[in-house]
Amino acid sequence: MSKPFVFSGIQPNGDLNIGHYIGAIKNWLKLQEEYDCLYSIVDLHAITIPEKVKGKINNNIYDLLAWFLAFGLDINKSKIMLQSDNPDHPYLGWILNCFTPFGLANRMTQFKEKTSELKETISCGLFNYPILMAADVLLYDCDIVPVGEDQKQHLELARDVAQRFNSMYEPIFKLPEPLIQKNGARIKDLYHIEKKMSKSSKDEKGIIFILDSKENIYKKILKAPTDSKNSIQFNNQQPEIANLLNIYAGITDLSIKDIEAKYKNSDYKQFKEDLADIVWKFLENIQSQYHKYISDKSYLNKILDEGLAFSQAITNPKIKQVRKVLGISKT
Ligand code: TRP
Repeated sequence: MSKPFVFSGIQPNGDLNIGHYIGAIKNWLKLQEEYDCLYSIVDLHAITIPEKVKGKINNNIYDLLAWFLAFGLDINKSKIMLQSDNPDHPYLGWILNCFTPFGLANRMTQFKEKTSELKETISCGLFNYPILMAADVLLYDCDIVPVGEDQKQHLELARDVAQRFNSMYEPIFKLPEPLIQKNGARIKDLYHIEKKMSKSSKDEKGIIFILDSKENIYKKILKAPTDSKNSIQFNNQQPEIANLLNIYAGITDLSIKDIEAKYKNSDYKQFKEDLADIVWKFLENIQSQYHKYISDKSYLNKILDEGLAFSQAITNPKIKQVRKVLGISKT
Protein backbone atom coordinates (compact mmCIF):
# COMPACT_ATOMS: atom_id res chain seq x y z
CA MET A 1 0.00 0.00 0.00
CA SER A 2 2.87 2.37 -0.58
CA LYS A 3 1.85 3.37 -4.09
CA PRO A 4 0.70 6.97 -4.45
CA PHE A 5 -3.08 7.35 -4.31
CA VAL A 6 -4.97 8.93 -7.19
CA PHE A 7 -8.50 10.33 -7.01
CA SER A 8 -10.52 11.95 -9.75
CA GLY A 9 -14.12 12.47 -10.72
CA ILE A 10 -16.41 13.06 -13.67
CA GLN A 11 -19.96 14.35 -13.52
CA PRO A 12 -22.73 12.15 -14.92
CA ASN A 13 -24.01 14.90 -17.17
CA GLY A 14 -24.82 12.67 -20.07
CA ASP A 15 -22.60 14.56 -22.43
CA LEU A 16 -19.63 12.27 -22.65
CA ASN A 17 -17.66 13.40 -25.64
CA ILE A 18 -14.33 12.80 -27.27
CA GLY A 19 -12.87 15.62 -25.15
CA HIS A 20 -13.60 13.74 -21.94
CA TYR A 21 -11.77 10.73 -23.30
CA ILE A 22 -8.72 12.60 -24.58
CA GLY A 23 -8.55 15.07 -21.70
CA ALA A 24 -9.37 12.82 -18.76
CA ILE A 25 -10.20 9.16 -19.12
CA LYS A 26 -7.23 8.35 -21.30
CA ASN A 27 -5.02 9.72 -18.58
CA TRP A 28 -6.82 7.64 -15.96
CA LEU A 29 -6.03 4.51 -17.95
CA LYS A 30 -2.33 5.31 -17.81
CA LEU A 31 -2.40 6.15 -14.11
CA GLN A 32 -4.02 2.86 -13.14
CA GLU A 33 -0.90 1.05 -14.36
CA GLU A 34 1.25 2.74 -11.74
CA TYR A 35 -0.88 3.96 -8.88
CA ASP A 36 -3.78 3.05 -6.63
CA CYS A 37 -6.69 4.80 -8.26
CA LEU A 38 -10.19 5.66 -7.14
CA TYR A 39 -12.44 7.23 -9.74
CA SER A 40 -15.73 8.74 -8.78
CA ILE A 41 -18.95 9.42 -10.61
CA VAL A 42 -19.69 12.72 -8.93
CA ASP A 43 -23.46 12.88 -9.04
CA LEU A 44 -23.69 15.34 -6.15
CA HIS A 45 -21.76 17.74 -8.34
CA ALA A 46 -24.02 16.99 -11.27
CA ILE A 47 -27.09 18.25 -9.41
CA THR A 48 -25.56 21.67 -8.77
CA ILE A 49 -27.23 22.60 -12.04
CA PRO A 50 -30.53 20.72 -11.60
CA GLU A 51 -31.44 18.22 -14.30
CA LYS A 52 -35.01 18.80 -15.39
CA VAL A 53 -35.74 15.33 -16.71
CA LYS A 54 -36.62 12.99 -13.86
CA GLY A 55 -34.53 9.83 -13.76
CA LYS A 56 -32.02 11.11 -16.28
CA ILE A 57 -29.11 11.33 -13.86
CA ASN A 58 -29.66 7.72 -12.94
CA ASN A 59 -29.27 6.67 -16.55
CA ASN A 60 -26.25 8.89 -16.91
CA ILE A 61 -24.58 7.20 -13.95
CA TYR A 62 -24.81 3.73 -15.46
CA ASP A 63 -23.84 5.09 -18.83
CA LEU A 64 -20.72 6.66 -17.47
CA LEU A 65 -19.77 3.50 -15.65
CA ALA A 66 -20.28 1.41 -18.78
CA TRP A 67 -18.16 3.88 -20.74
CA PHE A 68 -15.37 3.70 -18.15
CA LEU A 69 -15.27 -0.05 -18.60
CA ALA A 70 -15.55 0.20 -22.38
CA PHE A 71 -12.55 2.53 -22.47
CA GLY A 72 -10.56 0.05 -20.44
CA LEU A 73 -10.73 1.01 -16.79
CA ASP A 74 -9.72 -2.21 -15.13
CA ILE A 75 -11.52 -2.85 -11.88
CA ASN A 76 -8.69 -5.05 -10.73
CA LYS A 77 -6.52 -1.98 -10.80
CA SER A 78 -8.89 0.93 -10.26
CA LYS A 79 -11.91 1.33 -8.04
CA ILE A 80 -15.00 3.20 -9.14
CA MET A 81 -17.45 4.72 -6.69
CA LEU A 82 -20.65 6.73 -6.84
CA GLN A 83 -20.14 9.89 -4.83
CA SER A 84 -23.67 10.04 -3.41
CA ASP A 85 -23.35 6.45 -2.14
CA ASN A 86 -20.88 7.56 0.46
CA PRO A 87 -22.36 10.22 2.80
CA ASP A 88 -18.90 11.01 4.12
CA HIS A 89 -18.37 13.15 1.02
CA PRO A 90 -21.10 15.72 1.70
CA TYR A 91 -20.44 15.37 5.43
CA LEU A 92 -16.88 16.56 5.09
CA GLY A 93 -18.11 19.00 2.46
CA TRP A 94 -20.25 20.72 5.06
CA ILE A 95 -17.42 20.87 7.56
CA LEU A 96 -15.06 22.35 5.00
CA ASN A 97 -17.69 24.93 4.09
CA CYS A 98 -17.17 26.24 7.56
CA PHE A 99 -13.45 26.57 6.96
CA THR A 100 -13.61 28.24 3.59
CA PRO A 101 -13.54 32.02 3.62
CA PHE A 102 -16.44 33.31 1.53
CA GLY A 103 -14.13 35.66 -0.32
CA LEU A 104 -11.95 32.77 -1.40
CA ALA A 105 -14.86 30.74 -2.78
CA ASN A 106 -16.19 33.88 -4.42
CA ARG A 107 -13.03 34.14 -6.52
CA MET A 108 -13.65 30.92 -8.47
CA THR A 109 -13.72 31.81 -12.14
CA GLN A 110 -15.87 28.82 -13.12
CA PHE A 111 -18.60 30.04 -10.78
CA LYS A 112 -18.37 33.54 -12.23
CA GLU A 113 -18.68 32.18 -15.75
CA LYS A 114 -21.69 30.09 -14.82
CA THR A 115 -23.28 32.99 -12.98
CA SER A 116 -23.24 35.07 -16.11
CA GLU A 117 -24.75 32.15 -18.06
CA LEU A 118 -27.38 31.01 -15.57
CA LYS A 119 -28.25 34.38 -14.05
CA GLU A 120 -30.85 34.15 -11.27
CA THR A 121 -31.24 30.37 -11.55
CA ILE A 122 -27.77 29.87 -10.10
CA SER A 123 -27.83 27.78 -6.92
CA CYS A 124 -25.94 27.92 -3.65
CA GLY A 125 -24.87 24.36 -4.48
CA LEU A 126 -22.99 25.62 -7.48
CA PHE A 127 -21.24 28.17 -5.32
CA ASN A 128 -20.24 25.45 -2.85
CA TYR A 129 -19.25 23.01 -5.57
CA PRO A 130 -15.47 23.50 -5.21
CA ILE A 131 -15.74 22.86 -1.48
CA LEU A 132 -17.44 19.51 -2.03
CA MET A 133 -14.67 18.78 -4.50
CA ALA A 134 -12.15 19.62 -1.78
CA ALA A 135 -13.89 17.10 0.49
CA ASP A 136 -13.72 14.47 -2.27
CA VAL A 137 -9.97 14.61 -2.40
CA LEU A 138 -9.11 15.39 1.21
CA LEU A 139 -11.09 12.42 2.53
CA TYR A 140 -8.60 10.04 0.94
CA ASP A 141 -5.31 11.78 1.68
CA CYS A 142 -4.70 11.40 -2.00
CA ASP A 143 -1.40 12.29 -3.59
CA ILE A 144 -2.36 13.04 -7.16
CA VAL A 145 -5.52 14.50 -8.68
CA PRO A 146 -5.64 14.41 -12.47
CA VAL A 147 -7.84 17.25 -13.68
CA GLY A 148 -8.26 19.58 -16.62
CA GLU A 149 -6.82 23.06 -16.57
CA ASP A 150 -10.27 24.46 -15.68
CA GLN A 151 -10.23 22.60 -12.35
CA LYS A 152 -6.80 23.78 -11.24
CA GLN A 153 -8.17 26.69 -9.28
CA HIS A 154 -10.56 24.36 -7.43
CA LEU A 155 -7.67 22.19 -6.37
CA GLU A 156 -5.78 25.19 -5.15
CA LEU A 157 -8.80 25.99 -3.02
CA ALA A 158 -8.74 22.43 -1.65
CA ARG A 159 -5.10 22.83 -0.67
CA ASP A 160 -5.79 26.19 0.87
CA VAL A 161 -8.70 24.92 2.96
CA ALA A 162 -6.75 21.85 4.06
CA GLN A 163 -3.91 24.06 5.16
CA ARG A 164 -6.24 26.28 7.19
CA PHE A 165 -7.74 23.29 8.95
CA ASN A 166 -4.35 21.71 9.53
CA SER A 167 -2.81 24.80 11.00
CA MET A 168 -5.81 25.59 13.18
CA TYR A 169 -6.00 22.09 14.69
CA GLU A 170 -3.76 19.24 13.66
CA PRO A 171 -2.18 18.36 10.34
CA ILE A 172 -4.67 15.66 9.39
CA PHE A 173 -5.19 16.44 5.71
CA LYS A 174 -2.64 15.70 3.04
CA LEU A 175 -2.29 18.40 0.40
CA PRO A 176 -3.08 16.88 -2.99
CA GLU A 177 -1.04 17.65 -6.10
CA PRO A 178 -2.93 18.46 -9.28
CA LEU A 179 -1.84 16.63 -12.39
CA ILE A 180 -2.71 18.79 -15.36
CA GLN A 181 -2.39 17.13 -18.69
CA LYS A 182 -0.52 19.43 -21.05
CA ASN A 183 -1.10 18.95 -24.74
CA GLY A 184 -4.57 18.32 -25.95
CA ALA A 185 -5.87 18.55 -22.41
CA ARG A 186 -8.70 20.72 -23.55
CA ILE A 187 -10.45 19.70 -26.69
CA LYS A 188 -12.49 22.62 -27.96
CA ASP A 189 -15.95 22.85 -29.43
CA LEU A 190 -15.61 22.55 -33.22
CA TYR A 191 -17.75 25.65 -33.76
CA HIS A 192 -16.91 27.70 -30.68
CA ILE A 193 -13.19 27.28 -30.67
CA GLU A 194 -12.72 29.36 -27.54
CA LYS A 195 -14.95 26.99 -25.52
CA LYS A 196 -14.25 23.57 -24.09
CA MET A 197 -16.12 20.80 -25.92
CA SER A 198 -19.03 20.41 -23.54
CA LYS A 199 -22.77 20.19 -23.61
CA SER A 200 -23.07 23.54 -21.90
CA SER A 201 -22.60 25.07 -25.32
CA LYS A 202 -26.06 24.68 -26.78
CA ASP A 203 -24.84 23.84 -30.24
CA GLU A 204 -24.47 20.07 -30.56
CA LYS A 205 -22.84 20.13 -33.95
CA GLY A 206 -19.55 21.20 -32.40
CA ILE A 207 -19.43 18.22 -30.05
CA ILE A 208 -18.32 14.72 -30.98
CA PHE A 209 -20.28 12.54 -28.60
CA ILE A 210 -18.93 9.13 -27.76
CA LEU A 211 -22.24 7.59 -28.80
CA ASP A 212 -22.51 9.51 -32.09
CA SER A 213 -23.37 7.51 -35.19
CA LYS A 214 -20.87 7.06 -37.98
CA GLU A 215 -22.84 9.44 -40.12
CA ASN A 216 -22.85 12.17 -37.50
CA ILE A 217 -19.17 11.85 -36.82
CA TYR A 218 -18.32 12.25 -40.49
CA LYS A 219 -20.71 15.13 -40.85
CA LYS A 220 -19.38 16.96 -37.82
CA ILE A 221 -15.73 16.54 -38.70
CA LEU A 222 -16.04 17.22 -42.42
CA LYS A 223 -18.08 20.34 -41.80
CA ALA A 224 -15.97 21.64 -38.94
CA PRO A 225 -15.03 25.26 -39.64
CA THR A 226 -11.40 25.97 -40.49
CA ASP A 227 -9.37 28.89 -41.78
CA SER A 228 -8.54 29.32 -45.44
CA LYS A 229 -4.79 28.69 -45.22
CA ASN A 230 -5.12 25.05 -46.22
CA SER A 231 -1.98 24.23 -44.29
CA ILE A 232 -2.03 21.64 -41.54
CA GLN A 233 0.07 23.19 -38.85
CA PHE A 234 -0.26 23.58 -35.14
CA ASN A 235 -0.18 27.25 -34.19
CA ASN A 236 -2.14 30.04 -32.54
CA GLN A 237 -3.29 31.51 -35.83
CA GLN A 238 -5.10 28.33 -36.76
CA PRO A 239 -6.97 27.33 -33.62
CA GLU A 240 -9.49 25.13 -35.46
CA ILE A 241 -6.79 23.08 -37.15
CA ALA A 242 -4.85 22.92 -33.88
CA ASN A 243 -7.95 21.50 -32.23
CA LEU A 244 -8.39 18.87 -34.93
CA LEU A 245 -4.71 18.00 -34.62
CA ASN A 246 -5.21 17.56 -30.88
CA ILE A 247 -8.08 15.18 -31.53
CA TYR A 248 -6.02 13.26 -34.07
CA ALA A 249 -3.07 12.99 -31.67
CA GLY A 250 -5.35 12.13 -28.76
CA ILE A 251 -6.85 9.17 -30.55
CA THR A 252 -3.78 7.84 -32.35
CA ASP A 253 -1.02 8.70 -29.85
CA LEU A 254 1.04 10.09 -32.74
CA SER A 255 2.88 13.31 -31.94
CA ILE A 256 1.60 16.56 -33.42
CA LYS A 257 4.92 16.86 -35.29
CA ASP A 258 4.46 13.48 -36.94
CA ILE A 259 0.91 14.32 -37.97
CA GLU A 260 2.01 17.67 -39.41
CA ALA A 261 4.70 15.88 -41.40
CA LYS A 262 2.27 13.28 -42.62
CA TYR A 263 -0.12 15.93 -43.97
CA LYS A 264 2.50 18.35 -45.25
CA ASN A 265 1.19 18.11 -48.79
CA SER A 266 -2.46 17.40 -48.05
CA ASP A 267 -5.43 19.69 -48.03
CA TYR A 268 -7.98 20.08 -45.24
CA LYS A 269 -10.42 17.77 -46.97
CA GLN A 270 -8.00 14.85 -46.96
CA PHE A 271 -6.98 15.54 -43.37
CA LYS A 272 -10.57 15.73 -42.19
CA GLU A 273 -11.57 12.56 -44.00
CA ASP A 274 -8.70 10.69 -42.39
CA LEU A 275 -9.58 12.13 -39.00
CA ALA A 276 -13.21 11.08 -39.36
CA ASP A 277 -12.06 7.56 -40.27
CA ILE A 278 -9.78 7.41 -37.27
CA VAL A 279 -12.36 8.72 -34.83
CA TRP A 280 -15.07 6.42 -36.11
CA LYS A 281 -12.87 3.30 -36.05
CA PHE A 282 -11.96 4.07 -32.48
CA LEU A 283 -15.49 4.81 -31.35
CA GLU A 284 -17.06 1.89 -33.18
CA ASN A 285 -15.09 -0.50 -31.06
CA ILE A 286 -15.72 1.42 -27.83
CA GLN A 287 -19.44 1.59 -28.58
CA SER A 288 -19.71 -2.17 -28.95
CA GLN A 289 -17.96 -2.63 -25.61
CA TYR A 290 -20.31 -0.10 -24.07
CA HIS A 291 -23.39 -1.97 -25.31
CA LYS A 292 -22.06 -5.14 -23.72
CA TYR A 293 -21.59 -3.51 -20.31
CA ILE A 294 -24.71 -1.39 -20.22
CA SER A 295 -26.90 -4.44 -20.62
CA ASP A 296 -25.50 -6.05 -17.48
CA LYS A 297 -26.84 -3.91 -14.68
CA SER A 298 -26.12 -6.37 -11.89
CA TYR A 299 -22.46 -6.37 -12.86
CA LEU A 300 -22.43 -2.58 -12.87
CA ASN A 301 -24.06 -2.51 -9.44
CA LYS A 302 -21.51 -4.95 -8.13
CA ILE A 303 -18.71 -2.65 -9.24
CA LEU A 304 -20.32 0.29 -7.45
CA ASP A 305 -20.84 -1.79 -4.30
CA GLU A 306 -17.22 -2.79 -4.27
CA GLY A 307 -16.20 0.79 -4.91
CA LEU A 308 -18.31 1.95 -2.00
CA ALA A 309 -16.86 -0.60 0.41
CA PHE A 310 -13.35 0.34 -0.65
CA SER A 311 -14.13 4.02 -0.26
CA GLN A 312 -15.79 3.78 3.14
CA ALA A 313 -12.94 1.76 4.55
CA ILE A 314 -10.88 4.90 4.04
CA THR A 315 -13.40 7.66 4.70
CA ASN A 316 -15.13 6.36 7.84
CA PRO A 317 -11.98 6.50 9.94
CA LYS A 318 -11.10 9.84 8.38
CA ILE A 319 -14.45 11.34 9.38
CA LYS A 320 -14.03 9.95 12.88
CA GLN A 321 -10.68 11.64 13.09
CA VAL A 322 -12.05 14.94 11.78
CA ARG A 323 -14.93 14.92 14.28
CA LYS A 324 -12.58 14.20 17.12
CA VAL A 325 -10.21 16.97 16.19
CA LEU A 326 -13.12 19.39 15.80
CA GLY A 327 -14.69 18.29 19.06
CA ILE A 328 -18.06 17.36 17.56
CA SER A 329 -18.12 13.73 18.57
CA LYS A 330 -19.24 11.89 21.67
CA THR A 331 -16.38 11.36 24.05
N1 TRP B 1 -15.25 19.33 -10.68
C1 TRP B 1 -14.74 18.31 -11.53
C2 TRP B 1 -15.14 18.59 -12.99
O1 TRP B 1 -16.23 19.03 -13.23
C3 TRP B 1 -15.26 16.96 -11.14
C4 TRP B 1 -14.81 16.57 -9.75
C5 TRP B 1 -15.57 16.53 -8.63
C6 TRP B 1 -13.51 16.17 -9.38
N2 TRP B 1 -14.83 16.10 -7.57
C7 TRP B 1 -13.58 15.89 -7.99
C8 TRP B 1 -12.32 16.04 -10.08
C9 TRP B 1 -12.44 15.50 -7.29
C10 TRP B 1 -11.21 15.65 -9.35
C11 TRP B 1 -11.26 15.38 -7.98
O2 TRP B 1 -14.35 18.34 -13.86
